[in-house]
Amino acid sequence: MHIPDNVVIGDSLSVLKEFRSANTFDRTAVLVDENTRAHCLPKSEIGDDVAIIEIRSGEENKTLETCTHIWQQMTDLKMSRKSLLINLGGGVIGDMGGFVASTYKRGMSFVNVPTTLLAQVDASIGGKLAIDFNGLKNHIGIFREPNLVICDTQYLSTLPDREIRSGFAEIVKHCLIRDKEGWYQLKQEAFDPQKDWSTILERSVGLKGSVVKEDPEEQGLRKILNFGHTLGHAIETYFLDTNDRLLHGEAIAIGMILEGYLSTHVSGLPESDLQTLTKYLLDTYGKVEIPDLKAFGQLLIHDKKNAGGKVNYSLLSEIGSCFWDQQVETSLIHEAIAFYRNC
Ligand code: GLY
Repeated sequence: MHIPDNVVIGDSLSVLKEFRSANTFDRTAVLVDENTRAHCLPKSEIGDDVAIIEIRSGEENKTLETCTHIWQQMTDLKMSRKSLLINLGGGVIGDMGGFVASTYKRGMSFVNVPTTLLAQVDASIGGKLAIDFNGLKNHIGIFREPNLVICDTQYLSTLPDREIRSGFAEIVKHCLIRDKEGWYQLKQEAFDPQKDWSTILERSVGLKGSVVKEDPEEQGLRKILNFGHTLGHAIETYFLDTNDRLLHGEAIAIGMILEGYLSTHVSGLPESDLQTLTKYLLDTYGKVEIPDLKAFGQLLIHDKKNAGGKVNYSLLSEIGSCFWDQQVETSLIHEAIAFYRNC
């Protein structure tokens, strides 16, 4: 396990203060949405000298138009390459704020203070920054590490239980792909959104950190982090156009069951492991009426995990071990959907 050097798990107020006094920034702004402005900004006591830039919350606003709004605000505030942007929020704020900061005047400093479990355990670790484009998720972006990431569990108390449950899916995924011991520990207890997340968070961030350290630009090993995401993303995107939107982790939980099924046929996952992970995920996330492959199959084509016209999957060989760049017959995906529906 390796907590990346730029990541601190602790009290955001004191860590930020220390960071700002150790560096000379000519201007500082904090990027928030209406939720983090109301619930998180008061907890972070960022200071009167910090300008506030507010955007609307939600993945549907992770667009070039919103970037233009932020760049304009930064320009009006006369921010320079020596300025600092603090991204206070979930994955959308971190991804978009990081992208905007990395491109403003060819790149300025930014700190991510992720306020959701999902962003603390996944999006803020590993330097992936992106915006959506014409309905394609994370289609335009870059790799660049924030100067600092502060994961502070005090913000988790501002979240609805459903949000915490969504973030928890990435913790489950980390165990399934690379941490058998962690998986046995998780399984001991039912999901409890109110628990103290510090220890689990540290283990999970450490796990992702060690994967990203070995393969920062996703040439190989990092692809294991995509387990559950090939089908999960397509299902998440399909539901975006319906009245029953799924949170990211809820879609990934379905994706992990479907890709768990594929794993038993393609990469040797024992049937008993499939049964165990399926039961755990259904107990935690419940069951959703999912569509046929023809409703969301097209969405698989644009996935960034693909290469050479092939749709690529990361699949388990056992709990705690994952292969990447696996190809799957379409008939098997139909079977996986039938398996989920019949659970
Ligand atoms: N969320 C997967 C990754 O950071 O590679």
